[in-house]
Amino acid sequence: MAQSDSNKMWGGRFTAQPDQLLETINASIGFDQRLADQDIRGSQAHANMLAAVGLLTAEDARAIIDGLERIKEEIAAGEFVFSTALEDIHMNVEARLKELIGEPAGRLHTARSRNDQVATDFRLWVRDAIDTLDAQLQALITVLLDQAEAGADMVMPGFTHLQSAQPVTWGHHMMAYVEMFARDRSRFRDARARLNESPLGAAALAGTSFTIDRDRTAAALGFDRPAANSLDAVSDRDFALEFLSAAAICATHLSRFAEELVVWSSAQFRFVKLSDAFTTGSSIMPQKRNPDAAELVRGKSGRVFGALTTLLTVMKGLPLTYSKDMQEDKEPLFDAADTLEICLAATTGMVSDMAPNPEALRAAAGVGFATATDLADWLVCALNMPFRDAHHVVGSLVREAEMRGVELEALPLEAMQAVEPRITAEVFEVLSVDKSVASRTSYGGTAPSQVRAQIARWRTALQREGES
Ligand code: ARG
Repeated sequence: MAQSDSNKMWGGRFTAQPDQLLETINASIGFDQRLADQDIRGSQAHANMLAAVGLLTAEDARAIIDGLERIKEEIAAGEFVFSTALEDIHMNVEARLKELIGEPAGRLHTARSRNDQVATDFRLWVRDAIDTLDAQLQALITVLLDQAEAGADMVMPGFTHLQSAQPVTWGHHMMAYVEMFARDRSRFRDARARLNESPLGAAALAGTSFTIDRDRTAAALGFDRPAANSLDAVSDRDFALEFLSAAAICATHLSRFAEELVVWSSAQFRFVKLSDAFTTGSSIMPQKRNPDAAELVRGKSGRVFGALTTLLTVMKGLPLTYSKDMQEDKEPLFDAADTLEICLAATTGMVSDMAPNPEALRAAAGVGFATATDLADWLVCALNMPFRDAHHVVGSLVREAEMRGVELEALPLEAMQAVEPRITAEVFEVLSVDKSVASRTSYGGTAPSQVRAQIARWRTALQREGES
C-alpha cells in the first residue's frame, strides 16, 4: 500500500514527512478501524448521490461502489492491512480504493471532507450500538419478568437505609428493576431519535458549492433528514454525550443490582443462590462461592462514568468547528459501549440462572419488627386513633418486644393491652408478613395482585413491540 513522496492525501502542499511522534499521536487507525463498515456505507451513499446529480459518471460510481464492497470483504476476512502512516480509517480505505480501481478513487472525496465523513460514521456507529443495547435490555427485562412471575408471592424484607422496613415480595423487587431498565431503553431511544440526522454534505464546515443532494444521502443511510447547520454538523458530539449519559445511568442501575446480588448471595443473607456458571471458587477456601460476575458488573460501571467525563471534558473548551481534540471521542465511547454490552449480557445470564431462597427470604422478612407499620395502621382503622398516636403506641410495643427478645407477632395480647387496653386479638391478623404484603394493594404496591398486574402490563407491551 505504499504511497510515493510525502505519503499523504495533502502531499501537494507538504514536502517533508511527518515526525514519527506526530504520526504516533495523530493516528487513530488503531481504534477507528471499528468505523470501517460505517465509513464504507457512507462512501457508497455519497458516490451514488454524486452520480445521481451528475458529479460522477455512472461508470466511476460503479467502480467506486464495487471497490468499496471489496474492501469491506477484505476487512471482514482480516486481510486488510491498516497503515498508521495513513492515519485513520477514512484515508486507509481511500488509499486502498486507489490501489484497487485507480483514478476514479480520487473523485470520491468531491463535495466532502473527513469532518462530515467522521461525524457521519460515528453517528451511524452509535446508532448501531444503541440498537444492540436495546435488544440486550429487552432480553434482560424478559428474564426479570420471569423471575418476578415465579416469585410474585415470595415475601422478603423491604429495606430503607438497609434496615428492615416493611415486607415486600421478590416479584415486586424484580419489577423495580424492570422499570429502571425500561427507562434506560427509552433514554437510548430518545438519544437515537435526536442523533438521526445526517452530517454528510456539511463538508469541512461551510457546506459546498457542488450541487449535491443531502436528502438523498440522508435517506440512503437511514437518517431522518440532513443536519440543518453545517458548522453544527461537523462540530458537535452531543449525540455521543447523550449516548454516554444514558449508558452511565444504565451502568448505575446494573451496578446497584449487582451490589444487591453480592450482598444477597453471602452466607449471612442467603437470599439468592447464583449459579456455578456465574460464580468462582477460591484456591484456598473450599467453601467459597464468589460472585465475581456481579462484582465486575458493579466495578465496571466506573469505566462508563469515566467515558462520559472524558468526552465532556474534551468538548467543553472547543471553539467551533472541528478540532483534532474531537478524535478523542471514539476510544471512551467504544469502551463504554463494549463495557455495557458485556455487563448487560452477564447480568441477564445471572438473573436467568439465579435461584431465590424462599425460606431465607421469608425468615428475614419477619425480622426487625417489619410489620410495625401494619400494626399502626390497624390502630388507626380499628380504634380510630390518629396516626401519630398510633405510631407512638407501636413504638412502645416494639420496645416491649425488643426487651422480651421476640417479634411483634409473638407478643402476648396482655402485654399489648398493658400499653393500649383497647387492642383485641384481631390485631394478630395484620402482624403476619403475608397479610402485610397482601394488604398493599394501592397502585404500584407490593401486593401480589398488583405485582401480577404490572407483569402482565409489561408482557403485553413487549409482545406489542414484537408485533410492530
Ligand atoms: N480521524 C479524524 C477524527 O477522528 C477524522 C477527521 C479528521 N479531520 C481533520 N480535519 N483532520 O476526528
